[in-house]
Amino acid sequence: MNNSSKKRIGILTSGGDCPGLNAVIRAVVKCASHKGWEVYGIPYGTDGFIDIANGDRQPEDLKLYEHGYDIPGLLQGLDVLQFLSGSVLGSLSKGNTGDPEIAEKIIQGYNRLELDALIGVGGDGSLEILYQLAQKGQWKLIGVPKTIDNDVPFTERSVGFDTAVDTVTEALYDLTFTAASHERVMVVEVMGRDAGHLALHAGIAGGADVILIPELTPIVNEEVVHNICHKIARLHQEKRKFALVVVAEGVKHQDRRQSRAIGDYVAKQIKAYSKHLCDRDAIEFCGMQEVDTRVTVLGHLQRSGTPSSFDRLLATSFGIKAVQLIDREQYNRLVVWEGGKVESKPLEQAIALISQAHQQQRCPSPVDSNGFMVQSARSLGIYVGDPSAWNTPQPPAPTVEVATVEEASQSSL
Ligand code: F6P
Repeated sequence: MNNSSKKRIGILTSGGDCPGLNAVIRAVVKCASHKGWEVYGIPYGTDGFIDIANGDRQPEDLKLYEHGYDIPGLLQGLDVLQFLSGSVLGSLSKGNTGDPEIAEKIIQGYNRLELDALIGVGGDGSLEILYQLAQKGQWKLIGVPKTIDNDVPFTERSVGFDTAVDTVTEALYDLTFTAASHERVMVVEVMGRDAGHLALHAGIAGGADVILIPELTPIVNEEVVHNICHKIARLHQEKRKFALVVVAEGVKHQDRRQSRAIGDYVAKQIKAYSKHLCDRDAIEFCGMQEVDTRVTVLGHLQRSGTPSSFDRLLATSFGIKAVQLIDREQYNRLVVWEGGKVESKPLEQAIALISQAHQQQRCPSPVDSNGFMVQSARSLGIYVGDPSAWNTPQPPAPTVEVATVEEASQSSL
């Protein structure tokens, strides 16, 4: 442990990667170097500490320097780091402190580096794990929130979210014209394991007609499928022959045991149910027998786009704030974005909320179902999964079962 004002700090990125991680690392290295501190980049999250403890990595090899990532030729000296997605340190998706021997090894590695403090860039899961390790090992920890899901408590924005919103918004724009050419319903499955922030924000920005998020539509049941079809029928009546449906991956099938491929499920349900409505000769659903659906799963494209200017700025200011907190010896804080400012909150409080949510298997920072974004979507006429938002009669009791996933998958798309 270093007692002088010249500090020795570590930084690691943990959990699923996202755009902007390198911008955090860059800002930390620049800011700390200007203070004459040493920065150690821990590779692959806490796994890097295990390697150090085992002697598989040497501390001096982990030192990060300003302009440490220069490129040759006339571009030498150009600091490209903030432009690049991913993490130059690598990340660890599945951390585990459950095993006390592994936890001991991690702490051993940390101690070998003789760090004054550690900056952990992570989402809700990683921050919880790092906090538990910090408690055990008496580390001085600063948390920096990152996740395209934007579901870390106390912060209005996490690094990576803004870029992911742009990626999905652009995909919706690009899908609009092929949807229109073929008069199709395009179902777009968006990431967001427990939270619908990404689907909601991008859905509004990208002109979606339907947005399904776990906070408002935890399950796609007959009523939800009916309401989606009703929305599509309305569009048809208004002479719009195509539609965009955004569904967050956290939304579940009617058969809760199935949690994957929700986009595919929704597309098949819309096709099967719209035909059923048409067959029933209800006037508003005429023309629905030909509803053609296609599904696009955006997947990890959402995690790797070139960081947006907002994400670069957010990541940079988060990195600088983390160094400032260490400089002031204000430890165990979570850097946050609140009301247009970078602030910090007690990590203990954030972790308490996260742990409680995880125990109850719910999202630590979900979409506010009465919040401005949901209200905006409704004001625009977007179906967001709440039947009461629609001035339509209750759905007629279906005379046939909505096709199961298996049945629907047999029908040709
Ligand atoms: O937590 C961020 C996230 O992008 C989720 O939205 C998604 O479910 C998950 O990561 C995917 O993780 P992996 O890269 O392990 O498939």
